[in-house]
Amino acid sequence: MTFKRTLVTSALPYANGPVHIGHLAGVYVPADIYVRYLRLKGEEVLFVGGSDEHGVPVTIRAREEGITTQEVVDRYHNIIQRSFDEFGISYDVYSRTTSKIHHSFAADYFRKLYDTGKFIEQTTEQFYDPETNEFLTDRNIRGECPRCHVMGAYGDQCEKCGATLSPDELINPYNAINGNPLTKKETTHWYLPLDQYQSWLEEWILQNHKEWRTNVYGQCKSWLDGGLKPRAVTRDLNWGIPVPVENAEGKVLYVWFDAPIGYISNTKELCDAQPEKYGTWEKWWKDEETRLIHFIGKDNIVFHCIVFPSMLKADGSYILPDNVPSNEFLNLEGDKISTSRNWAVWLNEYLVDFPNKQDVLRYVLTANAPETKDNDFTWADFQARNNNELVAIYGNFVNRALVLTKKYFNGAVPALGALTEYDQQTLQECEEIKGQLQELLDHFRFRDAQKVAMNMARIGNKYLADTEPWKVAKEDLQRTGTILNISLQIAANLSIAFEPFLPFSSQKLHTMLNMPQTTWEDLGNMQILPEGHALGEVSLLFEKIEDETIQYQLDRLARIKAENEKKAQEEALKHWVPAEYKADTNIDEFAKTDIRVGTVLECTRVKKSERLLQLRIDDGKGVRTILSGIATSYPNPEELVGKQILFIANFPPRKMMGIESQGMVLSAVDADGKLVVTTVTAPVKNGSQVG
Ligand code: MF3
Ligand code: ZN
Repeated sequence: MTFKRTLVTSALPYANGPVHIGHLAGVYVPADIYVRYLRLKGEEVLFVGGSDEHGVPVTIRAREEGITTQEVVDRYHNIIQRSFDEFGISYDVYSRTTSKIHHSFAADYFRKLYDTGKFIEQTTEQFYDPETNEFLTDRNIRGECPRCHVMGAYGDQCEKCGATLSPDELINPYNAINGNPLTKKETTHWYLPLDQYQSWLEEWILQNHKEWRTNVYGQCKSWLDGGLKPRAVTRDLNWGIPVPVENAEGKVLYVWFDAPIGYISNTKELCDAQPEKYGTWEKWWKDEETRLIHFIGKDNIVFHCIVFPSMLKADGSYILPDNVPSNEFLNLEGDKISTSRNWAVWLNEYLVDFPNKQDVLRYVLTANAPETKDNDFTWADFQARNNNELVAIYGNFVNRALVLTKKYFNGAVPALGALTEYDQQTLQECEEIKGQLQELLDHFRFRDAQKVAMNMARIGNKYLADTEPWKVAKEDLQRTGTILNISLQIAANLSIAFEPFLPFSSQKLHTMLNMPQTTWEDLGNMQILPEGHALGEVSLLFEKIEDETIQYQLDRLARIKAENEKKAQEEALKHWVPAEYKADTNIDEFAKTDIRVGTVLECTRVKKSERLLQLRIDDGKGVRTILSGIATSYPNPEELVGKQILFIANFPPRKMMGIESQGMVLSAVDADGKLVVTTVTAPVKNGSQVG
């Protein structure tokens, strides 16, 4: 199949926060490199993006910040759009899913599938808050994790142990917003019967797209091997695109149904506004000669390779993605990037600390791109790559070539004299760069491609170091001229080779070389700059980054880490359960723990807590109150009344749920996580010490 044009999309980021380096490394820089490369080659290409403004995450953010959902998406859409702009992510269109065009386009899309019988309707029982009359989405349901028993796990995932969950698995689910206990209620939704697309998908992906990245192909295969099931495309929610059929009040399109349609509606928005420039949107979405490429992160694979293609197939008039180059994740200093834990380098903040250093970040993120496995961003590596590669190799080479030309030839490109074998070899090596680059870029191997571009700078740098034109100048100025001519041609080639990766620096170098507009065609031409051509002003292409600057960033992260640890401790105390008490200690330490026997006088549930029981204990001297996180293990708390149990008597009192707890009940943990309170095998006097 030959293609006439390429449509490139990059995942629409949720407008629930700014974008960080993980987003940039995983999706936006690679997409931009690819698009810039195609544009330089003169190909017909369109780069579509936008903000994903529906779904639960934005509504949660609104609640956290105490503003309306619309205000949230307005705020973050603007911040995100601005960051992309500042980092040179060169979209042809960047719009948003709250736009009018998108709302009506997505509704029409749904309606067509509905009218042609592409959905099935199913009534199921869903979690419901009888007090607020609301159905709850997975993310808004919390409860005890069935695996690790942490409290407050989400209905879709436990953030503590990483388990993927469904709300039905949670122990004592409650409404995350108000803590209300939940009931179940019937509700009707529309489903895309993915099972009906199973064999078609198997052929399309597993047979016909063996060339997809192994991580992408592998994920698709495991989904397909597991057998696809119908997936709901609507939700009971008040934020989103209303379901455009009768009797669907209170229902909206599922965010993962409307968001990918955003790629199409954003294209339409652009094409409708400038038809002479971009043609019709159908040309980009319905013409077999258009090649569609989705850039995404790995958590988006199933939606872009299985769900969205099935939606496109269900409609029947659309092209399908030709490739879905998905990256793995980028970590930060060894830890998973996390918005909620503020463990990230935010793009808007980066530019405050490193003004005009967009390309440095682009460079480092591509050099470390998580193309085949998760990767780590560290500030030490950031500094090293800047100082040892961008400054010491690329910048240094360019600077020497230009400064020497200013010094010996008054800033005009000197004549090329007779060539040595080394000259010829150097020129040839540079000429070969183009082929290597193309091969890699065509296969989405941006990390290796950038290495190849840097190799050209290495070749130039070594060439200057070996030939020492500043020494030669004393005896043979003409030879110096030849060396500098070659060096300047290499510099000119570097500005083209690096354009997709480091657009700002390439622009700067272009200006320094006073070079006319170039294209990919010119790459490999070692005579771009004619003899006598006057160079522009020389300045530094890159600057060294000092240790203090890096230390400042490390200190910031250390502060965040400390804050997070403190918060985690507080959280653990709130959810303090005996099971978590581990005595990692010696006998002296142990002796400090005062364990005693007491009789349980009363044992009741603590209001609004599904975890805590309140025990009144006769400790031999008087009665003390102890709270214990054992409620889920003792559905019938009275069974403990009258029992003699073991408790720690000398813990400092601690308040939980407004009640002071004066000690800690000791329990054993059963294999299934159930807690069993410890006792004595024969009656003893209350207050007896255990040791
Ligand atoms: N907002 C999603 C995320 O950040 C990506 C949506 S991509 C689209 O994971 F295809 F749905 F637009
Ligand atoms: Zn868990």
